[in-house]
Amino acid sequence: MIELCLLEHIPNHQSRGFKLGEDELFAVRHNRTVYVYRNRCPHLGIPLEWVPDRFLDTDGELIQCSTHGALFTIHDGFCVSGPCSGQSLQALECSVEGGVVRVRID
Ligand code: FES
Repeated sequence: MIELCLLEHIPNHQSRGFKLGEDELFAVRHNRTVYVYRNRCPHLGIPLEWVPDRFLDTDGELIQCSTHGALFTIHDGFCVSGPCSGQSLQALECSVEGGVVRVRID
């Protein structure tokens, strides 16, 4: 597991993008739980956000791809609406301990 950031560096109920070498990821925080996914839409394989660190819909309840509007659940990355319905974002194992977010990148 490698260190991604401090928990406090992801605003609660919001998202943040990361670039670790070749890997583009994003994280969504709900209180002390963090979900991390590769920043790649299953529809066209391109990044999801239209402005930095903005990966959620206006209600902050779903992850939204900015290109064609696909919507994904935050807790498991499953696409519930849009051109890649039924597919999923690639989730990465992560942990939060001592205020530090760590992620496993294979
Ligand atoms: S590229 Fe994400 S919905 Fe089309």
